[in-house]
Amino acid sequence: MRMKKKKYLTERLEAVSEYLYTSVIEDRNFKTAIYDKDYIDFDSWFEKSQPLYLEVGCGKGKFACEFAASHPEINLIAVEREANVIVSACELAQKMGLKNVRFIKCTAEYLERHIQPESIEQIFLNFSCPFPKKKYACHRLTHHGFLEIYKRIMKPTAEIHQKTDNMKLFEFSIEEFSQNGFALKNVTLDLHNSKFEGNIMTEYEEKFVSQGLPIYRLEAYIK
Ligand SMILES: C[S@@+](CC[C@H](N)C(=O)[O-])C[C@H]1O[C@@H](n2cnc3c(N)ncnc32)[C@H](O)[C@@H]1O
Repeated sequence: MRMKKKKYLTERLEAVSEYLYTSVIEDRNFKTAIYDKDYIDFDSWFEKSQPLYLEVGCGKGKFACEFAASHPEINLIAVEREANVIVSACELAQKMGLKNVRFIKCTAEYLERHIQPESIEQIFLNFSCPFPKKKYACHRLTHHGFLEIYKRIMKPTAEIHQKTDNMKLFEFSIEEFSQNGFALKNVTLDLHNSKFEGNIMTEYEEKFVSQGLPIYRLEAYIK
């Protein structure tokens, strides 16, 4: 479903242009469009050259901005496909005066078009859309189609950290990771009652935790 365009969206996007790269894609075929590379020069976009982390599906950017603020030694790229949403993320980064977070408006299928192979040290998948119907399973961000993309842009030692409230998505993800060359560690079925320290709550996480729902979390790495 297409989201309704927010009032003044164009003006708001222009006002945060230093934070935002908008992917322009003429070829709508995911499979062929990625052969036409349009790599972003992260060394000149960020003020400092330092390890690159990636969040896919960042929503309104609460996690991305809080993570960036508490990890000045890391550059975080946050990707989101909805303009209506990513504009709020950029505005938050601007308000917080962050230098080490930048946003790409694109759908995850095009990550490889803009990010060089073996350049990412960590990927965050926070409360990705579950797409409960089987026929839409290929849109889940832990479907093997996406895992293959992540593998190509990840450094060999990189990790993927996933959090979700959705047990079915979590089970699906564990299977997909396990069958596609990843090993798992630090798996918890109740993050907020575990020994995990330093958790940064996302927007969706705050909502689910306030409803008393358990949060599932895992870390995946290439075997
Ligand atoms: C359920 S929201 C979670 C937002 C945020 N991560 C949080 O935890 O509060 C999922 C977000 O992922 C984005 N998304 C879903 N599929 C995507 C894709 N293929 N590429 C980029 N963003 C995607 C949606 O637009 C939505 O904003």
